[in-house]
Amino acid sequence: MNKPIIALDFQTYQEVEAFLAQFSGESLSVKVGMELFYSNGPAIVEKIKQQNHAIFLDLKLHDIPNTVKSAMIGLAKLGVDMVNVHASGGKKMMEAAREGLEIGSTSGKRPKLIAVTQLTSTSETDMQKEQLVKASLLESVLHYSDLTKRAGLDGVVCSALEAEEIKLQNGSDFLRVTPGIRLASDAADDQIRVVTPKKARSIGSSNIVVGRSITRANDPVAAYNQVLKEWNA
Ligand code: C5P
Repeated sequence: MNKPIIALDFQTYQEVEAFLAQFSGESLSVKVGMELFYSNGPAIVEKIKQQNHAIFLDLKLHDIPNTVKSAMIGLAKLGVDMVNVHASGGKKMMEAAREGLEIGSTSGKRPKLIAVTQLTSTSETDMQKEQLVKASLLESVLHYSDLTKRAGLDGVVCSALEAEEIKLQNGSDFLRVTPGIRLASDAADDQIRVVTPKKARSIGSSNIVVGRSITRANDPVAAYNQVLKEWNA
């Protein structure tokens, strides 16, 4: 899954189908998030898989360990390539998530499991005021990354601005999957910490997630090709 991951933030399968049809059969990496999954159910994953796209199922699980383990058994059966949890659910919850995936994977190869550190829409001030965290944003992200690694997960979702430090701390095999990506000509929307695909690559992202820069572009295929070109440069 090293192509830019396109966030399919749509409500209906019809919208997804129309969007994917523009790529004329090219095999893509896509992200199915809460919006699409909760509106359409697991069948949406099967339909997208039939078109040969790699799927990151971004449901950000966060509950007691036993519940997360059981949920992951179900998600593994869908045959997706990557899933995630919130690192703030704790080490025991993350270990339980990994166990659930191992139990549920029928192919013998479990999906990659990554954890959200701090959402890229969260600023340091929000984090300190709302979560009563006294540390800096970077300290919090590095702490969660370390916890994630110790729980045996494959990497984290983080801002590209933190990717290099995470790579130094947790090694280059530990994934740094980074949303908050914008082409230089785009608006930031609700993302606080944004960078271009080229910058993300140069400052240590292992994978990028791109939504509105592609899905809301006048020409999504051209926007995707621009992202791909910058990412591979
Ligand atoms: O449209 P945009 O490029 O901002 O989309 C980013 C995608 O990545 C959204 O689907 C959002 O839910 C997701 N995401 C994020 N920040 C995280 C984790 C996931 O923006 N920390």
